[in-house]
Amino acid sequence: MSIDKNRHISLTGIKPTGTPHLGNYVGAIKPALQLIDESAVALYFIADYHALTLIHDPKLLDQLIYEVAATWLAFGLDTDKVVFYRQSDLPEVFELSWILGCMTAKGLMNRAHAYKAAIAQNEAAGNADLDAGINMGLYHYPVLMAADILLFDADIVPVGKDQVQHVEIARDIAQHFNHTFGETLVLPNARLQATAAAIPGLDGRKMSKSYGNTIPLFSDRDKLRKLLFKFVTDSSSPAEPKDPATSPLFALYREFASDDQTEAMRQRFAAGIGWGTVKQELFEVMDAFLTEPRRRYAELLHDRRQIDALLAAGAKRARELAHPTMDRVRRAIGARS
Ligand code: ADP
Ligand code: TRP
Repeated sequence: MSIDKNRHISLTGIKPTGTPHLGNYVGAIKPALQLIDESAVALYFIADYHALTLIHDPKLLDQLIYEVAATWLAFGLDTDKVVFYRQSDLPEVFELSWILGCMTAKGLMNRAHAYKAAIAQNEAAGNADLDAGINMGLYHYPVLMAADILLFDADIVPVGKDQVQHVEIARDIAQHFNHTFGETLVLPNARLQATAAAIPGLDGRKMSKSYGNTIPLFSDRDKLRKLLFKFVTDSSSPAEPKDPATSPLFALYREFASDDQTEAMRQRFAAGIGWGTVKQELFEVMDAFLTEPRRRYAELLHDRRQIDALLAAGAKRARELAHPTMDRVRRAIGARS
C-alpha cells in the first residue's frame, strides 16, 4: 500500500474490557468511523494486550475481543478502507515497546495518570503498600501505547480525553528517541473526540461500565425498550415544558434521530410532553437505527471465522506497513547495520 505523505495516517486502539454500550458508540465508534475518509491510511486495532493489565480471565478476554471486533464491523467499518487488526498479531509492537522502554525515563511513567490513580486509590484505602495490586503492565502501559502509535508513523490519534496524556507521552518518547538517534520517528498528535458531553446512563451519571448503568448496544428489542423505560426522569407532569439541554433522553434522541426529528422533538419539549412518550419515541428511533447492526453483529458472533479472516488479513497489511519503521529503528539503535 502506498502512502500519500500529504494526508494523514490515523490510528486508534480499542481496549476490549467490556461489552460495548451506547456511550462507546456515540463517544468513540461513530466519530472514529467518520474520520476514516479524511485519512490516507487509517489503522484501527483491538488492543487486546492492553486489556491484559486488567483482565486475567481467558474466557472473558476471548469473548470481549470478538464482541468488540463484531461491534465495529456491524456498524460498517470497511476493512478495505481501514487496516483492522488485533494488536497481539503484531510481534513488532512488542519489540518496539521494549526499545522505547529503554528510551523512556522511569519518572515519566510515575506521572502517568492511570498509575497515579491506582496509587491514590491505595492511599485512600489506607494501604501501607502504595503499589499494592499494581502490575508492571499497568505501569508500562503508556510505553506499549507509544509503540502502537509510533510503529506506523501515525500523526493523528483520535482518543477520548482520558487518553490525551498517553499520546503526549508517545510524542515525548519519540522526541527523545530522535534526539538520541537522529530523525527516525514521526511525532503523533492527539485528536480529541468532539463529543459535547458524555452520554448519560440509566441513573443520569455518565454511562460507564464502572457504574453498571449502561445500555448494551446489542440488547434485543424487548430488553432495549425495558432499559430505556428505566431511565430516571423528574416528576414533572406531561403538560409542563421541558428543557432539552438538561435531558439525558434528549441527548440520546438527537444521536439517533434525523435533524428534522430532533427539531420536532425540541419543539415538543417546549410545548410539554410526557416522559413515557419521549421514551417510546427514543426506543423507536434507536430500534430502527440498530436493526441492521444487530443482525450483522449476531451473524458475526455466530461465525467467528469471518472475524478471524478479516483480522488476519488486517494483521498482514499492518505488518507490511510496520516493517519499514522497524528497519529504521533497528538501524538507528545499532542493532542492524
Ligand atoms: P467505560 O466508561 O464504560 O469504561 P471506556 O472507558 O472503555 O468506557 O471508553 C471507551 C471509549 O468510549 C472512550 O473513547 C470513551 O471516551 C467512550 N465513552 C465511554 N463512555 C462514554 C459516554 N458515556 N459518553 C461518551 N463517550 C463515552
Ligand atoms: N489506551 C487506550 C484506551 O484505554 C487504547 C489504546 C491502546 C490506544 N493503544 C492505543 C488508543 C493507541 C490510541 C492509540 O482506550
